[in-house]
Parts: sequence; structure tokens; C-alpha cells
Amino acid sequence: MSIETMKFHIKDKSLAAKGKLRIEWADSQMPVLRKIREDFSNRKPLQGVKISACLHVTTETANLMKTLKAGGATVRLCASNPLSTQDDVAASLVMDYGIEVFAIKGEDNKTYYEHINAVLDIQPDITMDDGADLISTLHSKRKELLQKVRGGTEETTTGVIRLRSMSKRGVLAYPVIAVNDSATKHLFDNRFGTGQSTIDGIIRATNILLAGKEVVVVGFGDCGRGVASRARGLGAHVTVVEVDPVRALEAVMEGYRVTSMEEAAKYGDIFVTVTGNKHVIREEHFQSMKDGAILANSGHFDVEIDIPSLRRLSKSTVNVRENVEKFTLYSDKKIYLLAQGRLVNLAAAEGHPAAVMDMSFANQALAAEYIIKESLTPGVYTLPDKIDKEVAELKLSSMGVKIERLTEEQIKYLSSWEEGT
Ligand code: NAD
Ligand code: ADE
Repeated sequence: MSIETMKFHIKDKSLAAKGKLRIEWADSQMPVLRKIREDFSNRKPLQGVKISACLHVTTETANLMKTLKAGGATVRLCASNPLSTQDDVAASLVMDYGIEVFAIKGEDNKTYYEHINAVLDIQPDITMDDGADLISTLHSKRKELLQKVRGGTEETTTGVIRLRSMSKRGVLAYPVIAVNDSATKHLFDNRFGTGQSTIDGIIRATNILLAGKEVVVVGFGDCGRGVASRARGLGAHVTVVEVDPVRALEAVMEGYRVTSMEEAAKYGDIFVTVTGNKHVIREEHFQSMKDGAILANSGHFDVEIDIPSLRRLSKSTVNVRENVEKFTLYSDKKIYLLAQGRLVNLAAAEGHPAAVMDMSFANQALAAEYIIKESLTPGVYTLPDKIDKEVAELKLSSMGVKIERLTEEQIKYLSSWEEGT
């Protein structure tokens, strides 16, 4: 497709050269995805397949788009969050790789949904989501397209929760692969990726010293344990707030202070939400916070911190740095909100490092092929364990790591019951 016939909506085509260099840099850290791309170029398992993708438009996503195209697919991409787009990457995808992109960093809600609709206009065979906005639009406002869709993939915990709810209510019209639920995705991306990139976002936004600070991590799931461990590694005193007693107990035994939000609100310097839930920090908590408290969110949607309430409690707000908004409450107390309460790691930094997205996006590419190969009925699926193992093996081999192999005697022993004391 020539640039004249392509459809796209990006910020600035002249950013392409910078974007291309950054995409190539990320690719150098993505050996598993590169291998899949090479294999896809030879086999063309996605020949003639149309893919509508709604993902964070980053250097790593660009390499996934290149891989799908190498497999024979036609791809259109929009953003899965209004603040996560890297405009240079969007430009390079269009100008250098012939991939149609509809994404501009900072786009308003109306444009965000115009972009989602533009991406759906290709009448996809496959949808690729991070947060299920494509699927939810298809099932509400673009129902006429449902018939043609063969399947979808979902990248994140919150998206999988939405899809399981649709499936339970009998409204999910096609099969979706919960990529998040692959071990080689959530055990690494959510934990090590979110752990590092969330701290990166907070530091890039504020340049504060974490050593000696009271950091409160709300939610001790895969993401929360990553954030807590990285904050502790930088010398912060970390408190965990959890609602699940088993996870709270794990946090206690990991050596974290565990308490309620009501208690933590009184002494925290920095609060990070990673629950996938709504209003986990709200009015009563803002009321008891210290002057100068900093709030950040790394959960999928911007609902974890009750921002409308914070606005209501404030007599004025002002941006004091890029990605830092100061709220002055009627009591004169100051509270700082990072990145408008949106995913701080993608809005204020660059998201997860490529080396971890390598595995997440290897799973995405293989999930697309899986949808085409299998005839699945509507529902939420996980990828077979075999694919997880393959991705892990490829990653280990790219790192030059050898692992132990079972002997015949051990295989027999593990599948028997006769031998005992
Ligand atoms: P998870 O389900 O493993 O963990 C969430 C935890 O939050 C659970 O332990 C749950 O009990 C706890 N929780 C729920 N409500 C709470 C409340 N009111 N107070 C305290 N704890 C509460 O989910 P996860 O995989 O860790 O993902 C968390 C969020 O992060 C999701 O929205 C997910 O989509 C998102 N995510 C973001 C990124 C990123 O790049 N920023 C990456 C992966 C996932
Ligand atoms: N989610 C978290 N980090 C990401 C990245 N670097 N690219 C795409 N999606 C992401």
C-alpha cells in the first residue's frame, strides 16, 4: 500500500526517523518475537487475515505489528489509552512499515473512540485488545461486524475480567484468548514489567528520592508485588494494602507492613494503585493524607483514585511539572496527582522494557495464529501450556541459560506411586 492510499491519523509524519531508530532498539531486546517473525515470514500463517489492534502504541507494540504483517496479516492499530501513545512510533509505523495507525498522544475521549471505530472499519477477522475497548465497542455500537470476527486476544487483567463478565452473561459473541493468563505473560510482564516501569514513571514525573519514603502499594497481585519489591529495592519503606486475606498474608511474610487504606492514608508519602478496582483511594483517604502526598496509578483504568472527589475537595489545581498536577484542598493541604491518574508507567515513562514485552507479544502473535488454526466457540480461553513452555524455552535460550532435564528414571518415578518410605 502506498502512503497516498493509506488511511491514518497521527500527530506528525516527520517524527518517523526518530521512531524507527527506537523501534529497532526495542527489537534488539526482543529475540523471541524476532524468531517468531522470521518463522511467520516463511510460513505466512496469517495470510489474508485482517487484524484490528487496540494496544499501547509503543516501540514494543510496533515490533508486534511488524510480526503480524510478516505473517501475512493486514493490521490497523489504535491506542488503548489516550496518554500512552509514542507519536514517533506511530509516525514510523505509517511511514516506514506501511501500517495504518490511528493514535495521537493526549487525544480526547471523542477522538479515542473515533480511532477505535476507524480501526474496526477494516472489518476484522481478529481483534487484539488491551483492556477490551475494541470488543466492547464491537458488541455495543458495531454489532454488524461481529459475524465476520473469528476471534480476539486480550492483553491485560482488567480486559480479561470484562470478557469473563461478558461470557458469563452470554453476550460474548466470539472466542477470545486471555493472553494475560499465560504464565509467560503475567508472571513477568505484570510483575517485573509493571514493577520497574511504574517506578520509572514516578521518578520521571517527579524526580523524587524514594530512599526513606513511605510508599503505599494498593493491591498485591502480580503488578503490586512487582511495584512493592522495586520500591523496597530503592530504599523505600513499603506498606501494602490488600482486601484478599491470602495475598495480604503473603505480603506480611514478604516483610511488608500491611494495613488498611484508612491507616496507610495517614502516613504515606507516595501511593500507587494497582488493583483493577474503582475508588480504592477516595474522599475519606484524601482528607487524612499528609500535606504533599503523591498519588499514582498503574492499574488499567483511571478510576482507581477517585479524581472527581479530589477535584471537588480542591479550591485550585495547577500543573507544576509535566505529568504532575497539584491539588490545593480547601484546608490548604496539597496533594499531587501523577499522569491524570492514568497508567503512570506508560503516560510518564515508556511502559515495560522490551525484554519483558518480548514474551507478552510472542504470546499475542502465537494467539493470533492459534485463532486461525483452531475452530473455537465463543468464550474466554487460555493458550495451551505447550505454547507457554515454548515461549519460556525460547527466552531462556536467547539468554544463554541452560536448565536441567528429567532423566528416564525420574520421569518414571514422578508418574508412579509404589515407591515410598
Ligand atoms: P491482580 O488481580 O493479580 O491483582 C489485583 C489485586 O488488587 C488483588 O490481589 C485484589 O485482591 C486487590 N484489590 C482489589 N480491590 C482492592 C482494594 N479496594 N484495596 C486493596 N486491594 C484491592 O491484577 P494485576 O495483574 O496485578 O493487575 C492489576 C491492574 O493493573 C489491572 O487493572 C491490570 O489490567 C493492570 N495492569 C497494568 C499494567 C501496566 O502496564 N501498568 C500491566 C499489567 C496489568
Ligand atoms: N504495556 C505495558 N508496557 C507496554 C509496552 N512497553 N508496550 C505495550 N504495552 C505495554
